[in-house]
Amino acid sequence: MCGIIGYIGNRDIIPILIEGLKRLEYRGYDSAGIAVLEKGRISLRRAEGKIALLEKLIKQKPVSGSAGLGHTRWATHGRPSEENAHPHRDCTGTIVIVHNGIVENYLELKEKLKKKGHRFRSETDTEIIAHLIEEQYCSGAAFRRTNSLEQAVRRALKEIRGSYALGIISSKEPGRIIAARSGSPLIIGLGKGENFIASDVPAILAHTRRIIYLNDGEFAVLTREGVDITKADGRKIIGKELDGRITAVAWKAGAAEKEGYRHFMLKEIHEQPRAIEDTIRGRISPDKAEVHLEELDLSTQKIKSIDRIIITACGTSWHAGLIGEYMLEDLVRIPVEVENAAEFRYRNPIIEKNTLVIAISQSGETADTLGAIREVREKNGTVVSICNVVGSTISRESDAVIYTHAGPEIGVASTKAFTTQLTVLYLLAIYMGKIRGFIRDAQARELIAELLKVPGIVKRMLGEEGKIIKLAEKFRKKTNFLYLGRGEGFPVALEGALKLKEVSYIHAEGYPAAEMKHGPIALIDKNMPAVVLALKGRRYDKILSNIEEIKARGGEVIALASEGDKELKKKADEVLYVPRTCVQLSPVLAVIPLQLLAYYIAVKRGCNPDQPRHLAKSVTVE
Ligand code: F6R
Repeated sequence: MCGIIGYIGNRDIIPILIEGLKRLEYRGYDSAGIAVLEKGRISLRRAEGKIALLEKLIKQKPVSGSAGLGHTRWATHGRPSEENAHPHRDCTGTIVIVHNGIVENYLELKEKLKKKGHRFRSETDTEIIAHLIEEQYCSGAAFRRTNSLEQAVRRALKEIRGSYALGIISSKEPGRIIAARSGSPLIIGLGKGENFIASDVPAILAHTRRIIYLNDGEFAVLTREGVDITKADGRKIIGKELDGRITAVAWKAGAAEKEGYRHFMLKEIHEQPRAIEDTIRGRISPDKAEVHLEELDLSTQKIKSIDRIIITACGTSWHAGLIGEYMLEDLVRIPVEVENAAEFRYRNPIIEKNTLVIAISQSGETADTLGAIREVREKNGTVVSICNVVGSTISRESDAVIYTHAGPEIGVASTKAFTTQLTVLYLLAIYMGKIRGFIRDAQARELIAELLKVPGIVKRMLGEEGKIIKLAEKFRKKTNFLYLGRGEGFPVALEGALKLKEVSYIHAEGYPAAEMKHGPIALIDKNMPAVVLALKGRRYDKILSNIEEIKARGGEVIALASEGDKELKKKADEVLYVPRTCVQLSPVLAVIPLQLLAYYIAVKRGCNPDQPRHLAKSVTVE
C-alpha cells in the first residue's frame, strides 16, 4: 500500500524524506513524490516508478527546506503516473496533501467541486481532499471566519466517506503539519526540536523510537516544538494521557534494513530461528510443562466453555490458520473452522456465546481481517488476534492479542511472520489443551521440548541452502508447478505454491494430494513438476502412491522427505530432507525449503522478491 512520511524541524528535509520513502518501499508502490515548504511556497517533485527516479529529478531541479511531506503511491484510483502521484494540491497550490486510503464518495464530491469552479489535475480520489480543504480555508466567508488550516481540514473531513491517513501542509501556515487518521494507519514520531508523521515505523526509525499510534478519528497538529492530538470526540490529549500514548519502539534501525543480505526476503528467512525463539521467550515455565499466555486475557472458565473456534485471516496468515486447525483440533479437541476473512465478513456469520474467533495478521492492518473482527465484535463475539505489529489497528480492536515477536517484516512475501504465527498457535493449543484437561503434564513437557528444538533445527536447515540453489537453477525455466500435501502438509503445499507464484510469477497451485485424481492429474506431464510433501507419518503410504501416479504419467517429483528416508530417494527425482519433529510442528520445518526454493527461483529469473509486481505488503483496502 501507499507510504507516508512527513517532517518538521530544522534539518535539511530531502535526505529525511528520501530515506524514509526508501524504508517504505516494501509496502509496494508505483510512483513517489515530495512536497517541501520553501521560502513561503510549496515545491513539488513527483515521479512515476522507482524512488531513484524521484531522486534524479530532485538533482535536476533542486529543492530545499525543513518541513514537508513524502509519499509512495500504489494506484487505486487512476493509473500510475506523475500527475496521479502524491502529494496533491488545491487550485492555488497553497495546500498540499498526502493520503493513504480511499475516498468512496469522490465522484460525487468532484462534481460538486467542479461546479464551484475547481479544476482537477489528476484522476485520483485524493486530490478531492485538497480542494475540499481549499473550499473551507480560502473561500471568502470561511476565510474571514477562520484562516486556520486545522479548522478547514476538520470541516473538509466531515464531507468524506471512506478511509484516510492524511498529512497536510499549507504555505500560509508553514510552521505546522496537520495529520488525521480514519481507517488507515498513521503514526507520529517525536524528536527533539523536530517531529515526524509516517504510515509505518521503519520510515522514521533512524530518527526516533518514540512513537504515538493515532487512533481512528484522531487529529494531530505538529510543529517543531510539539504535537497536539485531539480525539474523535474533540477532546485534546494532554499530560499523563499523552505520555501514556507514547510507545518506545524497541526495533533497532538496522532491524528494518537488509544487514548484508541481498534481499529482505532472504534476510527474513534467515531470521526465523531468532524470531521463533523470541516468540517462545517468556511464555514457557522453567519446569517446561506450562505455557504462559497471560495476554490471552480469558478466564479458565471462559476457555473451558468454548465450544467452537473460528480462525480468520488472509493469504499466508490464512495458511497459518489452516495449520492451526490441525493443532487446535488435535490438542484441544474443539471443532475449528478456518475462514478467509473477506468471505467471512460479508456472510453474516453465526457467532454464538461460546465461539472464540482467532484473527491472524502480520501487519495488523489488513482491511478484510479487520472487517471480519468488527463483524464478530458487533455480534458480541470474542476475538483474540495473533499479530506482529504492536499497536496496529487489529491488535487494538481485538479483545486480546498474542504477539508474534518476528520483528519488522519488510519483504512483501511473508516468511518469518508465518513460522512465528505457527509458533503462537502451537503455544495456544498447548495452553488451552492443558486448561481443558486434554493435555497432561508429561505430554505438555514433550510438546514444549520439541518446540524448544525448533530454532536450532531451522538454523541447521538454513545452513544447507546449497542443494536448494541447485534445484532452483534446474527448475527456474518451468512455467507451472503443482504443490501437493496431505493433512497438515496440505496448507504447507498452499503456502509453498503462494510463495513461488508471488515472487517468481510462475503459475503454481497447491492441492490436497488426494484431490489429484479428481482433476489436476490431467495436467501432469514432463513440464509440470510436482513438489510433494511426503514426510513420515500417518499418511505416508498414501502420499507414496500419489508420487507413483505422477511418475507413471511422466511428471517430475521434488519430494520433501523426513531425514533418513531412503525409500523416497528411489521414487522421486529430487529429495529435500526435513528433520523430524512432532506432527504439529512439522509445517514449521517443511516450509523452510519451500521459502528458499521460491526465493532462489525468483532471483534466478531476475525477479525482485522484495517487491513483486502488483503486490503490496499490507492490504489496507478491500
Ligand atoms: C503472502 C503475503 C500475504 C499476506 C496477507 C495477509 O506472502 O504476505 O498473503 O499474508 O496479505 O497479511 P497480514 O498477515 O498482514 O494480515
